[in-house]
Amino acid sequence: MGNITLTMVKPTAVEKGYTGKILEKITAGGFRIQAMKMFRMSKADAEKFYEVHKERPFYGELTAFMSSGPIVAAVLEKENAVKDYRKLIGATNPKDAEEGTIRKLYATDIQANAVHGSDSDENAEIEASFFFSKRERFNKDGNII
Ligand code: CMP
Repeated sequence: MGNITLTMVKPTAVEKGYTGKILEKITAGGFRIQAMKMFRMSKADAEKFYEVHKERPFYGELTAFMSSGPIVAAVLEKENAVKDYRKLIGATNPKDAEEGTIRKLYATDIQANAVHGSDSDENAEIEASFFFSKRERFNKDGNII
């Protein structure tokens, strides 16, 4: 535990063509990609993924948005991955994100905030397993994890 995080490039950022630029920031930030794929979540997938937020007023809008187009999901590996990735992406609301962070550069608003990043080591493992089987995750030698 402790060395992975799960990210998603959200639909608006994919549609605007920011995926490559975001992946460049991720690898330049020292993260190794263990697994990655582009796909579109169903509304039910998004509701399950964001279940922890189901009592929040934005849950309906958020899950509609996240299932509105393709996303790029990836498992990222680095020491202190969760904390370091949250630093690289910046605050949830891009208005509060520091200069140079992924959200400052590529987000549209608090909902279409360019990328998701896990908020704890425990959730990183849960979220990585939500999208990827063990056979889709690779160690640095190219072998299945
Ligand atoms: P994410 O990191 O994917 O985790 C939960 C998401 O909920 C968050 O990014 C935002 O996109 C969204 N979110 C959080 N707070 C709000 C809010 N106040 N209004 C709309 N969306 C929000």
